[in-house]
Amino acid sequence: MRLTGRCAVVTGASSGIGAAVAQRLSAEGCELLLVGRDPRRLDAVTARTGGRPLRADLGTPEGVEAVCAAATGRVALLVHAAGLGAAGPLAGLEAAAAAELMAVNLAAPVQLTRALLPTLRAEGGHVAFVASIAAVGVANEAVYSATKAGLRGFADALRVESGLGVTTVLPGAVDTPFFARRGRAYGRRFPRPVTAGRVADALVDAVLRDRAEVFVPRWLALGARVHGLAPGAFARLSRRFG
Ligand SMILES: NC(=O)c1ccc[n+]([C@@H]2O[C@H](COP(=O)([O-])OP(=O)(O)OC[C@H]3O[C@@H](n4cnc5c(N)ncnc54)[C@H](OP(=O)(O)O)[C@@H]3O)[C@@H](O)[C@H]2O)c1
Repeated sequence: MRLTGRCAVVTGASSGIGAAVAQRLSAEGCELLLVGRDPRRLDAVTARTGGRPLRADLGTPEGVEAVCAAATGRVALLVHAAGLGAAGPLAGLEAAAAAELMAVNLAAPVQLTRALLPTLRAEGGHVAFVASIAAVGVANEAVYSATKAGLRGFADALRVESGLGVTTVLPGAVDTPFFARRGRAYGRRFPRPVTAGRVADALVDAVLRDRAEVFVPRWLALGARVHGLAPGAFARLSRRFG
């Protein structure tokens, strides 16, 4: 896919992976619509990338509609990077927190993609989803895992039915404010968190090459393959090693 001079919408552009993707796409010569909530962080990314900022809460239908209304240009690339996490047993998760996870991580990408399909199709466009290795099901992140597995399934179906380019990026731990915001630090010694820039590079590269799925780091694909081929063994390993 050619990116120079094309319009791209990036959600989650105010921080972490989305901000790094915006930076990469700006370097590729894209015209950017940058979606986020925090005005200070959004302004900083806007200043770095020359994009157009849009404040919208993707946990609400109004926020999703605001993005659709602002994406008036010919959108060739839609990057879904907005998202949040929650850690802890399901029994301790408030209903409102579960609803917010599902709204921002899954429902908003579905609705935005649906609404922007005509312009994406007209442009021979591409949709990129930032899912997570948690899509295979991570203990104490049940709802988060469900949203990311849902995103992966949605992307797989869209790839087959829409004629669009569709990329799913499945990172492991990434060094961003994500963990601080969810209220629980990343506690594993392995795998070490990668940088947001590395995820952004992998995402943009996958869009340019029209790759369906990319794991960051790449060896994480092995875990997903074991999960697919031998779910029982995967669950045993998961219980044993977390
Ligand atoms: N960090 C990791 O280890 C990791 C691993 C795998 C996958 N991911 C996924 O990567 C994506 C980006 O996360 P990150 O690591 O870059 O975290 P981050 O730095 O916390 O960024 C999250 C982004 O999502 C936006 N966002 C959150 N709730 C929103 C809402 N209600 N409406 C609109 N925007 C909202 C934030 O906007 P504001 O800042 O303006 O609120 C921010 O731009 C997420 O989907 C996450 O699930 C992260």
